[in-house]
Amino acid sequence: MKVLVTGGAGYIGSHTCVELLKAGHELVVVDNFSNSRVDSLEQVEKIAGRSVRIYDVDLLEKEKLAQVFGEHSIEAVIHLAGFKAVGESVEFPLKYYRNNLIGTLNLCEVMSEHEVYQLVFSSSACVYGIPKQTPVPETANLQAINPYGNTKRMLEDMLEDLSSSNENWRVAVLRYFNPVGAHPSGLIGEEPKGTPNNLMPYITQVAIGQLPRLSIFGDDYDTEDGTCVRDYIHVVDLAQGHVSALEHLSTGVHTYNLGTGRGYSVYEVVKAFEEANALSIPVQVVERRPGDAAVSYADPAKAERELGWRAEKGIFDMCQDAWRWQKHRQGGNG
Ligand code: UD1
Repeated sequence: MKVLVTGGAGYIGSHTCVELLKAGHELVVVDNFSNSRVDSLEQVEKIAGRSVRIYDVDLLEKEKLAQVFGEHSIEAVIHLAGFKAVGESVEFPLKYYRNNLIGTLNLCEVMSEHEVYQLVFSSSACVYGIPKQTPVPETANLQAINPYGNTKRMLEDMLEDLSSSNENWRVAVLRYFNPVGAHPSGLIGEEPKGTPNNLMPYITQVAIGQLPRLSIFGDDYDTEDGTCVRDYIHVVDLAQGHVSALEHLSTGVHTYNLGTGRGYSVYEVVKAFEEANALSIPVQVVERRPGDAAVSYADPAKAERELGWRAEKGIFDMCQDAWRWQKHRQGGNG
């Protein structure tokens, strides 16, 4: 298929492009490079041994986006472009509403105008807020607790309404749990700006000596060791989930959790990282971070049943690949 990937240069996007190319799809990428670099797509081409058409387009520039659709016979879209930092979304909600909502609105309008009705949409487990039950099924209540999560939930609603209005739409909504790790080649991975907010990039920066120690946000939660439990998923597994979703699109909107179904506590992740890489990570326990759920992990059964997809890689792969990528970046190539 000829597939347009929005945000294809980003962390999830670059890995998704590799897997799409490997599966034989032809790719057109649009990205505004606000949180990514064009080099990552050069690395994608190197890994896959195939080329990608790249356009520097912001989804808020609807005319430019329409031109890309005019130039290519796009058959399906994987829509990953969007702002994703929870803390920043609390500070600058309008920035998030404008970018995530209007960008997706423009995309869907241009798709309709060009009669492209196949869409894989990047959502987040963030839409569940603090889950009341674990593992979390797709039918769980949606109660996002920050503006970022709200943009994703609103967009999910918009896609439902769109598909109700026209039965040509075939949409998969993918709710990611905690993507971590990097491509095993060490050529692409996550590049957080400034001090990382997320656990794994923070750990790798401690390991390389850029940060002195990991602060663990609370060890008095109602979990086995007192630290929060999350469903970490290797980014390559997640990327393959997009390929499966694309290849199983069917009429209407279908929502899938992408996770492993297994939770790890913060202490367990630190220990796995230390063992996988023969390193030691200094830690200190600090106050809880506001808005953190004690436990969140997916029920990924629907994705396995309907998409034939399930996560294959374990926590050791995640830790080893995250560390290889960190060292690669440090070497000045990343
Ligand atoms: C965060 C986002 C979520 C997003 C996901 C993507 C928040 C509140 N949520 O989820 O919307 O979809 O990333 O990856 O930001 N931790 C520490 N010390 C640290 C960093 C994290 O102890 O320096 C702990 C956290 O308390 C949490 C776990 O590690 O229990 C994972 O944190 P993080 O990687 O930020 O992911 P989430 O909070 O689950």
